[in-house]
Amino acid sequence: MMLPKLKTAVPGPKSRKLARALARFESPNVTFLGPPGPIFWKKAADSHVWDVDGNRYLDLTSAFGVASLGHTPPSVRNSIQRQASSLVHGMGDVHPTELKVQLLRELSRLTFERWTGGRIQGQSVLGNSGFEAVEIALKTALLKTGRNRIVAFHDAYHGVGFGALQATWRGDFRRPFSAQLRKLSTFLPYPRPGDDLPHLDRKLSALLKTRKIGAILVEPVQGRGGIVIPPREFLPLLRRACDRSGALLIADEIFTGFWRTGRMFAVEHSGTVPDLICLGKALTGALPLSACVGKKSVMNAWPRSRGEAIHTTTFLGNPLACAAAIASLGAWKRTGWGRQVNSSGAFLGKLLRQALDGRTGIREIRGIGLMFGIELAYSGRAARISDHLLRGGILTLPEGTHGEVLAITPPFPISKAELTFAIGRVQRAFDEVA
Ligand SMILES: Cc1ncc(COP(=O)(O)O)c(C=O)c1O
Repeated sequence: MMLPKLKTAVPGPKSRKLARALARFESPNVTFLGPPGPIFWKKAADSHVWDVDGNRYLDLTSAFGVASLGHTPPSVRNSIQRQASSLVHGMGDVHPTELKVQLLRELSRLTFERWTGGRIQGQSVLGNSGFEAVEIALKTALLKTGRNRIVAFHDAYHGVGFGALQATWRGDFRRPFSAQLRKLSTFLPYPRPGDDLPHLDRKLSALLKTRKIGAILVEPVQGRGGIVIPPREFLPLLRRACDRSGALLIADEIFTGFWRTGRMFAVEHSGTVPDLICLGKALTGALPLSACVGKKSVMNAWPRSRGEAIHTTTFLGNPLACAAAIASLGAWKRTGWGRQVNSSGAFLGKLLRQALDGRTGIREIRGIGLMFGIELAYSGRAARISDHLLRGGILTLPEGTHGEVLAITPPFPISKAELTFAIGRVQRAFDEVA
């Protein structure tokens, strides 16, 4: 078992020097310079990250949920290296690569074809970042329904591009740009177990009756909103509401996709088939690539290209990213992930409850698959715990609209011994910060 090993105080001297250089050359809003200040990554493997000062950390974040297969997984690394020796850039929407065709074929197979026994085919538009996949879904909804409004949810996070931002809940992300934003979304409360779903259903029905709503955009489990797990009947309720009104159901699985919640996709917990699904992060596990996959009958709303795609990007279907995605999908197709993720998740949940249950200041410990959140009673407290853990060699992230949730979303190969060690450190951080 490899455990965190700190050669210097964290952040170490090289990281501190780099942070000073960054402060001069990067726009001030981008990297949080502390305290304690960032550590600068040098290499990573499995659940471990090394910084420029030689410190080794145990990663409980999967680096924003990307490294679900572990950091630098050999199959993905090898396919990137192989591809890099022949072609690193193509002309995505003009003269594409064979890899793009393979990837699109595979995305259809793993989503709509798998969900419907081959009855429904999926068609995709590729992007680079997650928010682009969301924006493609929003454009598709308008093209398909002719309606320009959507329903989104409190605490939702869909990214910060101008389209996605209009569906992201947090005021601190939206407010500075509100003069440039339109009112696209009507936000409804994201339900928690025990909440009054019939009440939500009535509110939703009233909104949908206006015939202005083209889509409901939803994370099947909220990630950055604070690891919020809705009641199991929530997605089927949304599906029925969409079927009644002709609106599209868009599942944003950029965080939850590829077994994070114990199923290949989180919509599968309730057997819900969305009209569009947005994917990113663990889709490649390494390089920037996202996809909006939709039912063929929905994607048909896009006009056939007459020589100029009306939605595209320079790097669309980049061959390195496609190679990484094909290698990752090869891994994600293997059976056994559900068992592994659920077993490690059950172990992690037990450890967290043993370590933290009943403490003052902790509201709730919740999780599904390997996606856990510890909700604290105080805004901003999760960042203090997270900073403390960083100094002890454990990487975590604060989440939640008020920074009230410590998120734990480790890479799937993390061992039980590593989890036991990490949660021991989490317990100690709660003792010391309290
Ligand atoms: C559910 C969800 N949607 C969209 C995004 C935005 O993805 P990106 O940061 O790659 O644009 C994120 C990022 O955390 C996310 O968690």
